[in-house]
Amino acid sequence: MDRFVIEGGTPLSGEVEVGGSKNASLPALAACLLAEGESSIGNVPFLKDVETLRRILEQLGMKARRDSEGRITCRVEDEEPVTAPYELVKTMRASICVLGPLVAKRGRARVSQPGGCVIGPRPIDLHLKGLVALGAEIRVEKGYIVAEADRLVGTRIYLGGPNGPTVLGTATTMTAATLADGETVIEHAACEPEIEDLAELLVKMGASIEGAGTHRIRVRGVRTLRGVRHDVIPDRIEAATFLMAGAATGGEILARGAVADHLDAVLDGLRAAAVNIIEEPNGLRVRPDGRPGPVDVTTMPYPGFPTDVQAQMTAVLAVADCESTVTDKVFPDRFMHTDELNRMGAKIAREGASIRVHGVEALEGAEVQASDLRASAALVIAGLAARGETTIHRIYHLDRGYEKLEWKLQRLGADIRRESD
Ligand code: UD1
Repeated sequence: MDRFVIEGGTPLSGEVEVGGSKNASLPALAACLLAEGESSIGNVPFLKDVETLRRILEQLGMKARRDSEGRITCRVEDEEPVTAPYELVKTMRASICVLGPLVAKRGRARVSQPGGCVIGPRPIDLHLKGLVALGAEIRVEKGYIVAEADRLVGTRIYLGGPNGPTVLGTATTMTAATLADGETVIEHAACEPEIEDLAELLVKMGASIEGAGTHRIRVRGVRTLRGVRHDVIPDRIEAATFLMAGAATGGEILARGAVADHLDAVLDGLRAAAVNIIEEPNGLRVRPDGRPGPVDVTTMPYPGFPTDVQAQMTAVLAVADCESTVTDKVFPDRFMHTDELNRMGAKIAREGASIRVHGVEALEGAEVQASDLRASAALVIAGLAARGETTIHRIYHLDRGYEKLEWKLQRLGADIRRESD
């Protein structure tokens, strides 16, 4: 198993290129199951999760080939297979994004039920609710969700859950509705940029979709969709991670390609913590001026502060001047990183549904263990900011969602290396 060894305490500086969005790439590639002919999805990051989905798509009869530029060319060659197997789905919950396209296009889907998750409960009831509303029959058979429908039928669906809208649940319902008979209205839809990007791809394929990016999405079903060329948006979570690394280490970084419109809440949070952020034509620049100040952060569905940046922001606030609170309203138990940050000298205490972060002057390097993707990113930020050496074990989590992270950080002046057992 690989680990990172970081010699911290040096402000990062320079320019870094933000890659394509993982969370936009996954549903975009799955949507290619819907199309006749060849599709080509560009700006796809080289990541473990993308490779997992590519393998699932190949098992589903799709040829999916990647070129060296990060473009994946997809063509369905066999519409018979409908099974997304346990061995692959268990490694990535987002595999569920093949469910909607399969049932809409092939009339049947058999997708292994995604298991538990370290960031808290991750039910898929809203995905199923969307499909049932569209007329699919659903049952669970030996750990597999089996969904069947001759042809889905458009309807009005309320898709809100206890913690707000669902991103991939919206993707499931929206993609399924593209080939349904008649009109579908999704109320309380997720309006994340990744959903807007997916809708843009589907519209290029010939779908009729209005309102993506708002809480009401209207889809008029069509008979067929065609293969197209599409480039996914830059990864707003990776961009935010670099801004946080600059803020925590007191270093000036230009995140090239970062889209300010996708990051309003993050920029607002950093500015509230007295971190200078400059919007430039080719990206976002962080220019810290001393230690960050305290700020209270609450994660919410988009356009609120993203839960996927909560851990990284907590690492910044761990070295802020004074006390901050952080609340996660999307995944209320997503605080696995705090114990590890405390091993590095942070002072973070859980208080009900929130954590209280008492900023310290400096963190100390330590041996820590990554628990999930974004928690790992928080530990990297903390390690870069800390005095001395930090070893982060189990960084396979990071490889699921950050492309060439150590290489990019080295170019910003970080002393970070990967070691293998
Ligand atoms: C996506 C992102 C993930 C991000 C999350 C929230 C991808 C591949 N992953 O995950 O990185 O952290 O959005 O921004 O895009 N819920 C239900 N029932 C459901 C589905 C979800 O109750 O059927 C709840 C979840 O437990 C959670 C909330 O809804 O509390 C939001 O989850 P959701 O938006 O569905 O997350 P994902 O789409 O799985």
